[in-house]
Amino acid sequence: MSQLLETLDKERLVINPLLKRKSELGQFLTPASVAKYMASIFDKNKLYDPKILDAGAGIGTLTSAVLERIVAEKTSNSAEVTVVEIDEVLRERLQSTLSLFENKLSLKWEVVPDDFIEWATNHLLNEDSLLAEKKIRYTHAILNPPYKKITSSSRHRKLIRSVGIETVNLYSAFLGLTIELMEYGGEIVSIIPRSFCNGPYFRPFRQLILDKTAIKHLHLFNSRDKAFKDDDVLQENVIIMLERGGVQGEVMISTSQDDSFKDYELNSYPFEKIVYPQDKELFIHIPTSTGDGFLERYPSVCFSLEDIGVSVSTGPVVDFRVKDHLRGMPEEGTVPLFYPNHFVGTTVEYPKVMKKPNAVVRDETIEKWLYPNGYYTVVKRFSSKEEKRRIVAGVLNPNSVDYPVVGFENGLNVFHYKKQGIPAEMAYGLYAYLNSSAVDKYFRVFNGHTQVNATDLRAMKYPSKEKLEILGRWVMSNFDTIGQEEIDRKLEEVINNDKQNSS
Ligand SMILES: C[S@@+](CC[C@H](N)C(=O)[O-])C[C@H]1O[C@@H](n2cnc3c(N)ncnc32)[C@H](O)[C@@H]1O
Repeated sequence: MSQLLETLDKERLVINPLLKRKSELGQFLTPASVAKYMASIFDKNKLYDPKILDAGAGIGTLTSAVLERIVAEKTSNSAEVTVVEIDEVLRERLQSTLSLFENKLSLKWEVVPDDFIEWATNHLLNEDSLLAEKKIRYTHAILNPPYKKITSSSRHRKLIRSVGIETVNLYSAFLGLTIELMEYGGEIVSIIPRSFCNGPYFRPFRQLILDKTAIKHLHLFNSRDKAFKDDDVLQENVIIMLERGGVQGEVMISTSQDDSFKDYELNSYPFEKIVYPQDKELFIHIPTSTGDGFLERYPSVCFSLEDIGVSVSTGPVVDFRVKDHLRGMPEEGTVPLFYPNHFVGTTVEYPKVMKKPNAVVRDETIEKWLYPNGYYTVVKRFSSKEEKRRIVAGVLNPNSVDYPVVGFENGLNVFHYKKQGIPAEMAYGLYAYLNSSAVDKYFRVFNGHTQVNATDLRAMKYPSKEKLEILGRWVMSNFDTIGQEEIDRKLEEVINNDKQNSS
């Protein structure tokens, strides 16, 4: 690591506790090792006379990493840099960082003291703007944008809409605008949360990426909390490299546990493995050596939920909206309200001493959200950091509570059939399938955040109804002896069957 990057890294740790608007402005500065890696992804042949953009530049670590590479590899004697940073404290340091390069190469630089969203939309909209006049488009962009939800009524949302970008987070807004500011063939390297890869809210953003760029490289940090370990960010992050107007070919996929890149692995995958050709949701999959190929290995896992006659929905009772209906313990006139805590392995612990309520008053407000008592498979929506698996499933056995109807809270996903229970064999079959290690790995290929949403469960493939029922019957006759190993072995046996029969 160069001395300058090392100094910036120390500075980052010093400045970190001094940032007063840290969460408001998403000020999580990139460690130097990550910056250096990001800069290394740019195509060396294109690093000649670059026009570099760094949106939300912090203390300038990312731009410095690119300039250091240009100097070290002697790819160019000159560069133009535009850095945009809203925070005055960081901007001061940014100025002095950039000035250090003036004796290393012919550098033109501009520090823009604006809100990037405003600055970029202005440039894109205004025909007379400098950008349009001089036709300034960037050849390179490197960014670690702020992460923050943008509400539908916010100023930022209106601004990005005015240039045709529809998205829900500052990071995707920054990246979307950056894409628009690039010249054809220009390369963008950005570190962002993985949440854009799936889920309905980011669909327009995925569409923008796929329409206007080629995805060249995706790097995945395997550990959810290690890429920004000094900042305690619990988020799965990816580094993405895009080429504006590029022709989509194979995609390089790399992984490392953390920012030391010690266990770095690099493979290339055909694009059809990243975005499935028929997928209307345009999910972006990140295959890794551990999770890859589940569906290829088990061709019998090819059914949609619709095929097996099951639906999945988010638990309809949102507890904070019906606070006055909640009761700590069951009482006259209430029915059970199920939370993830009630489901432990194959059993239902009800009622349970816990912070959350156990029951909800049954009246006409609540009635429409209640389900008839029956067999339902449930999946936690939010897994905790400690949990080994991302998908944690349980089953409601109707015999565990003596009520005609029950409520499922919003923190659960519920597998049902037309808002009614499903056959017991199916409920336990889904339980075993979803709790298996193989499915957990398969799920991680396309889901990077801690949430498991109904859309994700709907997008997955399942074994046939018959196979799920075989699994279910096996669970029902072995309740007391089933652990992770047994589930994994039994699933393998059941879904492997076809292959053995057909070969
Ligand atoms: C995640 S930090 C990354 C900083 C730097 N790029 C790095 O990698 O170390 C995001 C940066 O964006 C800046 N920022 C946040 N909102 C901004 C906005 N609307 N316009 C410009 N900069 C913004 C923050 O002050 C912060 O420096």
